[in-house]
Amino acid sequence: MSSSRTNTDFNNQVAVITGGSSGLGLAISKALLDCGAYVAILDLQICSELENHPHVLFQSIDITQEEKLREIINVVWRKFERIDILINSAGITGITNLKSHETSSENIRKVFDVNFMGCYLASKHVLPFMLKNNYGRILHIASIAGKEGNAGMLAYSSSKAAVIGMTKVQGKEYAETGVTINALAPAVVQTHMVDMMPPEQVRYMTDKIPMKRCGTLEEIANLALYIVSSKNSFTTGFTFDLSGGRATY
Ligand SMILES: NC(=O)c1ccc[n+]([C@@H]2O[C@H](COP(=O)([O-])OP(=O)(O)OC[C@H]3O[C@@H](n4cnc5c(N)ncnc54)[C@H](O)[C@@H]3O)[C@@H](O)[C@H]2O)c1
Repeated sequence: MSSSRTNTDFNNQVAVITGGSSGLGLAISKALLDCGAYVAILDLQICSELENHPHVLFQSIDITQEEKLREIINVVWRKFERIDILINSAGITGITNLKSHETSSENIRKVFDVNFMGCYLASKHVLPFMLKNNYGRILHIASIAGKEGNAGMLAYSSSKAAVIGMTKVQGKEYAETGVTINALAPAVVQTHMVDMMPPEQVRYMTDKIPMKRCGTLEEIANLALYIVSSKNSFTTGFTFDLSGGRATY
């Protein structure tokens, strides 16, 4: 990841990033830190790379636990007295490579709990603080699976479609407040999450990318930083594409 970022927009801004210890969330956290932001990472696991960074506040949490999540967001607010950015990157695929009749309702509920409820709960509890400051940028990390529907990934694709639906609702609800809410729908980026999936399921997804390659963490961070910057001031409720040409809408 380049450390030559100079976007002064983020200097002293405060970002809450769920799932910031790995993959996309970690790449975005590092990019924001390079630009002078303070980053509160809310994750199940500690990221050793950023653990001792002076601008990082690490909070160990399962984001599906609403009361603890609310408390932690209050801790962040009390420490910094501002929350400019929320990025919801925590997510799981659940069990994949199964047809709908082979899935379990337990797995569907678990994936919805993390992917949809996690985004909902974090935004619900951060929004009041953003509204106080008449400014905020929320980014939900959705997926191309939510737009297109990946066969074999019922729980994941449907939960991400729900996140895209919520983004449209929230964009309209807060359109006049200075708070924008957008989503990002990447195709495949090689991370721990993808490493854990059955190879045939990963092949199914990568074969559909017209550019015939995966996205990179650098590309994720570049677009994410634009979305959560003050420059992105007339776009809300929108799902940005990052799929190498797979989604053209
Ligand atoms: N990697 C891809 O190809 C890809 C493509 C499209 C969308 N996405 C989305 O991007 C986001 C990040 O994925 P990634 O590839 O970086 O995965 P990752 O596994 O590398 O990182 C996910 C992080 O979320 C954390 N997490 C999971 N469940 C949690 C919970 N209940 N509470 C708190 N933290 C939790 C994990 O500990 C981990 O640090 C996910 O929402 C994923 O669906 C990824």
